Amino acid sequence: MLASIEQNLNEQINVEFYSAYLYLAMGSYFESEGLRGFANWMRSQFEEEVAHAMKLYHYIVDRGGTVTLTAIAAPPTKWESPVSIFLQAYEHEKEVTQSINKIVDLTIKESDHATHHFLQWFIGEQIEEESSANTIYQQLVLSGTDKAALFFLDRELGQRTAGQT
Ligand SMILES: [Fe+2]
Ligand SMILES: [Fe+2]
Repeated sequence: MLASIEQNLNEQINVEFYSAYLYLAMGSYFESEGLRGFANWMRSQFEEEVAHAMKLYHYIVDRGGTVTLTAIAAPPTKWESPVSIFLQAYEHEKEVTQSINKIVDLTIKESDHATHHFLQWFIGEQIEEESSANTIYQQLVLSGTDKAALFFLDRELGQRTAGQT
């Protein structure tokens, strides 16, 4: 496979693992706050991000490329509130979308139809990722300081298993 495409896909593996790490860190905040449902949602998100990284990993291998793993940056360790976490998650997903779009642009420029096709799954996935983070963010904004609403949402997010948004 083309060196520039290979490099971008390898960088995307790092982006996905950083995302996994970020959600795991966010989950630990919720664990320490006693919000186990939110923590469960974050743990499912962590697993999904690892799956995204592995999709890229297998694709590089399938195309005869070389997987190059690089250092994963440390995620933040402190947050102010559940609402600030979900705003950050939403902002993060928008950045990931940009990162995917940048590689899709490159596949068009280089006429790499296989990688272009492969990345369509990620484009669809990012629509869901942005939407689910933003939906929970909006619900938290609407809840305001209402603790009952927060616990209700915690119960709801506790139902999620990996693969569900
Ligand atoms: Fe992802
Ligand atoms: Fe994501």
